[in-house]
Parts: sequence; structure tokens; C-alpha cells
Amino acid sequence: MVKTCVKAQVIKQRVIAGDVFEMIVAAPEIAAIARPGQFVHLRLANVLDPLLRRPFSIADCNVDQGTLTIIYRVVGRGTVLMTKLQAGESIDCMGPLGNGFDLTAQRPLLIGGGMGLAPLVMLAKAFCSRPATVLMGGRNEQELFWPEIYAGVCKNIHITSDDGSIGRRGFTVDLLPELLKKEKFDSIYACGPHAMLKGVAETAAHYGVPCQVSLEEYMACGVGACLSCTCAGTSGKRHKVCTDGPVFRAGEVVW
Ligand SMILES: Cc1cc2nc3c(=O)[nH]c(=O)nc-3n(C[C@H](O)[C@H](O)[C@H](O)COP(=O)(O)OP(=O)(O)OC[C@H]3O[C@@H](n4cnc5c(N)ncnc54)[C@H](O)[C@@H]3O)c2cc1C
Ligand code: FES
Repeated sequence: MVKTCVKAQVIKQRVIAGDVFEMIVAAPEIAAIARPGQFVHLRLANVLDPLLRRPFSIADCNVDQGTLTIIYRVVGRGTVLMTKLQAGESIDCMGPLGNGFDLTAQRPLLIGGGMGLAPLVMLAKAFCSRPATVLMGGRNEQELFWPEIYAGVCKNIHITSDDGSIGRRGFTVDLLPELLKKEKFDSIYACGPHAMLKGVAETAAHYGVPCQVSLEEYMACGVGACLSCTCAGTSGKRHKVCTDGPVFRAGEVVW
């Protein structure tokens, strides 16, 4: 796998909603080869704390402009420091990492929970000539700013919220059987919290629809060397989420 490490200049940074930011960086070498589902491993330039890089999905990339878009929630020290970056400053960016999604579906259903919707933006764009449907879930209306981001990419958007403040009250997995009964999807692509992925994987198996999931694990090296990101596989082997994934066929993972 080709990967590179560059000082990526911040082009733009904006607050999308609450504690969620969108950052666009110039990284032409990475943008040229990035595929939906891959991620970058960021290290704040000239800072020793945090020492380790932080992984973020590539939410979008523009090959002509040589830019990557990252959509991130502020969680701890690393992401707080990211919010301080101004246009013109740079960040150490390694990527593209991981395997990415298989894009052969003709009738794809994309399912994202919370920040799991970030990598699915680029995936939805990759399916632009095929009718992608997106099922998005979150805790409440404030967290569900995603329809605006997906506007122009997907026409069929379904929303669930835990508190019912937007869309159907409940979880994505509650609405999923209804969608699968109504339409013949040939592939499901999911990213989000582990409990959601487990529910999606089980429902997809029940309805006989192939399903790919993008997993999140704590990562250190990001390149398969440290084993800090492993998860149990059904073959009996442990998978490295950074290099064997982050995208897996749902049947490869022990839930
Ligand atoms: C493949 C992959 C893609 C990701 N894509 C995105 C994205 O597009 N947008 C986004 O907002 N977040 C994403 N995350 C989660 C993001 O990496 C963490 O929120 C971030 O590392 C937190 O760093 P921090 O220093 O602010 O937080 P801290 O809590 O200080 O971090 C401490 C340690 O925990 C790790 N960590 C904390 N939360 C997570 C998490 N949810 N998953 C994995 N490691 C975590 C950090 O990497 C760090 O090693 C992704 C994670 C992975 C593995
Ligand atoms: S993060 Fe080091 S092996 Fe995956």
C-alpha cells in the first residue's frame, strides 16, 4: 500500500455544529490516491504532547485541488489542539491508511451513527451515479447536522434520533428492517458505535444482504507495527484494524 507523510497546510477550518469541526488541508499526494473508508493519522507539528498521532477518516477529498476534508468531534487534548490551527499553519499528516470500502454495489445502503457518518460522505460521493440511500442516526437534532453535508450527494436520506427531536425516534437498527423489506439493497456500508455495528451486522445477515463495517479502535502506530488496535476475527486470528481494516466484511468480525 502506498502511503506518505506530509506537512499538510490548513486551508480552512470551521465549526459545523457544537463541538464538531471541519478542517480542509492541502495534501495533494494523499488526495490523489485516497479511497473512501481510508484514514489519515495526524500529528500536531512541533508538539510533543500528545506524542501519538490521532486517526481521522477522510471525509472527502478533492483531487484537482489536492485537498482532504476531515470532520472531527472535540474529545480530548489532541482534538482541542486541532481546533486552534489557523489557515496557513501545518499539521503532520500520514496517509492514506487502511483498506477502504469495496465499491462494487449497485444499490448501496449507507448507515452511519454519530461521527461514523464522516467517512460515508466520500463513499456517498463515489456512488454518485448509483442511487445511494443513507440511514443516519444520532442522539438528537444538534448532532444530526449531517443532512446538509450530504445534500446534493444523496436524495434518499432517513434519520433516526434517540430522543425523537428529528426523524424517527429510536436507533438506526430499529428502522433498518423496514428499509430492507421495502427496497432491494445489494450492499450495506456501516460506520458508527460498536453496538450499532453489531445490530446492523446481525440484521444484514438475517436479510441476506452483504455488509461492510468500518471499525474504530484506539491506535498508536497506524501502520500495523504495534498491535494496539486489534480485534477478534471469526477465523480465530486477530485483525489489525489499522492495516487489515478499518473496513471489514461484517462476517469477519467477532461481535
Ligand atoms: C480509523 C479511525 C477513524 C476515525 N475517524 C474519525 C473522524 O472522522 N472524526 C472523529 O471525530 N473521530 C474519528 N475517530 C476518533 C478519533 O481518532 C478520536 O476522537 C481522537 O483520536 C481523539 O483524540 P484526543 O486526543 O482529542 O482525545 P483523547 O481522549 O485525549 O485521546 C486519548 C487516546 O484515545 C484515542 N481515542 C479517543 N477516542 C477514540 C475513538 N473514538 N476511537 C479511537 N481512538 C480514540 C486517541 O487516539 C488517543 O490515543 C477515528 C478513529 C479511528 C480509529
Ligand atoms: S495501530 Fe499499531 S498495529 Fe494498528
